[in-house]
Amino acid sequence: MEIKKICVLGAGLMGNGIAQVSAQAGYEVTLRDIEQRFIDGGMNNIKKNLSRDVEKGKMTQEQMNAILARIKPTLDLKEAATGADVVVEVVIEVMEVKKKVYAELEEIVPQHCLFFTNTSGLSITEMASVTKRPDRFIGTHFFNPVPVMRLLEIIRGHQTSDETLEIAKTWGKKIGKEVIIVKEAPAFVVNRILCTMINEAFFVLDEGLATAEDIDKGMVLGCNHPIGPLALSDLVGNDTLLRVVEGLQRELGDKYRPAPLLRKLVRAGNFGRKSGKGVYDYSKK
Ligand code: CAA
Repeated sequence: MEIKKICVLGAGLMGNGIAQVSAQAGYEVTLRDIEQRFIDGGMNNIKKNLSRDVEKGKMTQEQMNAILARIKPTLDLKEAATGADVVVEVVIEVMEVKKKVYAELEEIVPQHCLFFTNTSGLSITEMASVTKRPDRFIGTHFFNPVPVMRLLEIIRGHQTSDETLEIAKTWGKKIGKEVIIVKEAPAFVVNRILCTMINEAFFVLDEGLATAEDIDKGMVLGCNHPIGPLALSDLVGNDTLLRVVEGLQRELGDKYRPAPLLRKLVRAGNFGRKSGKGVYDYSKK
């Protein structure tokens, strides 16, 4: 099956990045969210990213305009999903919300349409179970910032077909990603390791072993990580991280208990860069 039209549901951090790289690869994209401010935020981010590439001479203004023209932002789910060959669902990481979206989509999309879910760790099989197409359902886990990070983790659900896997792999390569194939398990491979490490950094901070700056400096200079774990948590969103770690605890036990400080930050609304404050304060920058 050849993919022509891609519908991306969710214009937030990950969704706008997926829409951008898909449009850059030549696909027609609809980008849908539930409020105009989310759509505006997503489109502004795409424009900012592309403008940076134009300034650096990586693409021309004409190329940028052509990419933007391939992305149709909308609030209307029916308009976004009608005729889609693939829906990439990037809605909030809450199983019941995702299931509701899939039930609605079933009434709109064509028979051949594939469902790709971008989840940080929820069960692909459980989401697929509410659709009429569990064989055409697969996990496509991107990394933030999407245009920069080279990996796409592809996760098969229990009933995902070989054909769906092949189409997802081909799409991943076409949008410039290196692909790894992972069996379904809580948080898959990368987040199982990464989020556990970040959670540990919150325990270390809470125990007063070092300042946030020195914990991050330690991991950057001592392990050659591009960014420290606490700064990374602010980048991906402390709320997102907490949901992943809570999922790990639920499914795999107390070895994965969320750090109380992480929970406290989320309760305070300190989600990280996107809210202006997380471990660090971004409001003055
Ligand atoms: N969007 C698009 N491009 C961006 C960007 C963004 N938000 N931020 C930076 N870039 C680009 C810059 O334009 C620059 O491009 P060029 O090389 O063409 O000049 C390049 O990335 C490097 O940027 P900077 O020099 O400004 O800054 P940096 O060297 O500090 O890099 C970073 C920024 C790429 C984000 C780097 O800090 C990094 O790699 N951090 C780790 C990111 C990471 O681990 N992501 C995974 C998170 S886990 C996840 O997402 C999964 C989950 O489910 C939770």
